[in-house]
Amino acid sequence: MSKIFVDACLGKETPYTPVWMMRQAGRYLPEYMAVRKEAGNFLNLCHNPKAAAEVTIQPLDIVGVDAAILFSDILVIPDEMGMDLSFLQGEGPKFSDPITCDEDIDRLIGGDEAASKLTYVFDTIKLLRKRLDERGDEIALIGFTGAPWTLATYMIEGQGTKTYNICKKMMYSNPDLLHKILKKVTEVVKLYMEKQIQAGIDVVQIFDSWASAIETDKYDEFSWSYMVEIAEYLKEKYPEIPIIMFPKGISAFYDKVYGNFDVFGVDWATPMALAKEKLGDKYVLQGNMEPCRLYSKEMITESVENIQKVMGSKRHIFNLGHGILPDVPVENAKHFVSECQRVSGK
Ligand code: CP3
Repeated sequence: MSKIFVDACLGKETPYTPVWMMRQAGRYLPEYMAVRKEAGNFLNLCHNPKAAAEVTIQPLDIVGVDAAILFSDILVIPDEMGMDLSFLQGEGPKFSDPITCDEDIDRLIGGDEAASKLTYVFDTIKLLRKRLDERGDEIALIGFTGAPWTLATYMIEGQGTKTYNICKKMMYSNPDLLHKILKKVTEVVKLYMEKQIQAGIDVVQIFDSWASAIETDKYDEFSWSYMVEIAEYLKEKYPEIPIIMFPKGISAFYDKVYGNFDVFGVDWATPMALAKEKLGDKYVLQGNMEPCRLYSKEMITESVENIQKVMGSKRHIFNLGHGILPDVPVENAKHFVSECQRVSGK
């Protein structure tokens, strides 16, 4: 039996439009906070397959989403390439030794050696495969990676940034160095995602959360072409595994989108009608409620009905237009999911 979520990603007709939420396993759930507390901290949770599998499954039971997304983080990739990742409470991710020159890149572990170190992720997937299959509800498991550009922003800046000035200085004054980082990350990501598929994921999502930091004319060169290269590599070997691309905030690039993948994730700032007009014939669209509408039930219903009107139950997956925030009431997240299911006839 094929999974409804996988069918929807592949553009097949499904009995209803599936819904999931980016960052659906996380701090808005008291049950997540309890497991994280027991694990000690966020990275320990990522490194512990049993606990990571548990928080992956929580939103299925608590908010009723139609797909599970592996619990991990995009930054475990540079961590296993030899950059020392830490998450300080309330401060977000930090790398103690950001990349500044050729030698820094040469020192990074690359290729299969780095990808093979992410065993705890593959163990989590294997455990989840078993637990999801035992449930018998045909829930798909989404695996993920960060886009090379989004990963590179952390590797170069050493942390999150509002201005991206360090990586953009590199982009405009030493583009070869930036490409060298992007190439090395791309090679690891290809093998990492292949190993996620071999461990048992059903769908791949590539998060380019910081796409909008790049000017439109440079977006293909510094990010999209690397994402497409990863997709082409996986599609050639695993054509049955759908690939979702989520480049956030680049609607000015929609006319230039190309590549062999299945689903295009629409961010919350882009009108769904615009995405449909430009990309809807070529790709299934995912999205795109503004996540802050989750603070108001009326605003949730309004948005879900509008998105449904535009997409008309065809070639669409309901989601937020970026991740859910930690202070959203669980009841409202449930309302979003049930409203999507109501309008699409589940
Ligand atoms: O439910 C899911 O979506 C799966 C889990 C998931 C996490 N991170 C867990 C997490 C996924 C898919 C990610 C991806 C991720 N991580 C992205 C891309 C997606 C996006 O939202 O744009 C990015 C940019 C990161 C990097 C990252 N991880 C940051 C900037 C932070 C700190 C900011 C924050 O939200 O606190 C994290 C930590 C993180 N990753 C948390 C979770 C649940 C919070 C950690 C905690 O429990 O305190």
